[in-house]
Amino acid sequence: MTSALDRDSVLAALSVAVRAPSIHNTQPWAWRLRDGVLEVRADRSRQLAVADPDGHSLILSCGAALHLTEIGLRASGWDVEVQLLPDAADADLLARITGRRFGEPDPECVELAEAALRRRSDRRPFRPDEPPAELLDLLAAAGSMEHVSVEFPPRHSDERINLAVAVSWADRIEREDEAYLAEMNRWLRDPDVHAMVDGVPVDAFPHVPDDQPRHLDVPQRDYEVGWTGRQLIERGVDERPMIGAVITATDAAYDHLLGGISMMRMMLAAEQHGLSTCVLSQAVDFAAFRTRVQGLMGWVGYPQMMMRVGYPTAPTAELAVTPRRSAEAVLQVG
Ligand SMILES: Cc1cc2nc3c(=O)[nH]c(=O)nc-3n(C[C@H](O)[C@H](O)[C@H](O)COP(=O)(O)O)c2cc1C
Repeated sequence: MTSALDRDSVLAALSVAVRAPSIHNTQPWAWRLRDGVLEVRADRSRQLAVADPDGHSLILSCGAALHLTEIGLRASGWDVEVQLLPDAADADLLARITGRRFGEPDPECVELAEAALRRRSDRRPFRPDEPPAELLDLLAAAGSMEHVSVEFPPRHSDERINLAVAVSWADRIEREDEAYLAEMNRWLRDPDVHAMVDGVPVDAFPHVPDDQPRHLDVPQRDYEVGWTGRQLIERGVDERPMIGAVITATDAAYDHLLGGISMMRMMLAAEQHGLSTCVLSQAVDFAAFRTRVQGLMGWVGYPQMMMRVGYPTAPTAELAVTPRRSAEAVLQVG
């Protein structure tokens, strides 16, 4: 038995789904509601030609948005069925969501939807204390599913040193590429100047003066390419955040979609337990990087996503909210 999804329920769900993270806040997604069935589609016009030639980050971002769509619908009372990549002839059709019946909101999904609305990428240094092992296990369990596993290399292990080397190496290659820097520059925004609906605002990333570098063992993506970050951070902190890696058995579009779902599930679990997260994706941006990191780390599968995890130094609510396009702007009906 199926039941037609209605526009109002879908718009309510999309107001949650658009809060998904996406590479450079490109929001490379689109939804179509046709005959009561909701489709989640990749919007290739928003794909990064240099940083994401294969659409890996695009599909990951859409996977996160797909997961929040399901959460949003369940939070409004819909029981739904989700089919991933339902049409082999239409690779950009990432999922088809069918309503089964409308009833009571799922309380767990109501809480997850609230967490999704609160979540922000936290690029500040985290507190030095390590989250307890049980909490990291809980995050790993949230992100694990069939074909997907999660690793948190211990802070003082050889594995962690290898991970730091891998991210530094990838970060350096990207930063030496003028085309990559120019493309990133086009997605940076000054909210005082631009009417923002996409891109990364300067108040969402920190300013790091040359004479006061951050003490990071795993470098973050540097957004200060022609723009000065406005986020205030504490200096002199020796940062060793936990890094979680989402690993899939193979490295095709299906894995990228699952990688995005897994990333989102971990972020929501982190948010619910007072932990901050931020994607750290340099070492997984390109297929060649993922293969190299897999070999270096000795992982059985391919790393799809890495994420910094730790306790925030100040409440996440103090972070600037990165804007999104509205639910109406990303939904086509009919
Ligand atoms: C595939 C992917 C890759 C990303 N890579 C990075 C990254 O390397 N460094 C970073 O600070 N943020 C990264 N982000 C986070 C986005 O910049 C962020 O989600 C977007 O700007 C929206 O901001 P918000 O998460 O605070 O809502 C990435 C997000 C996704 C989904």
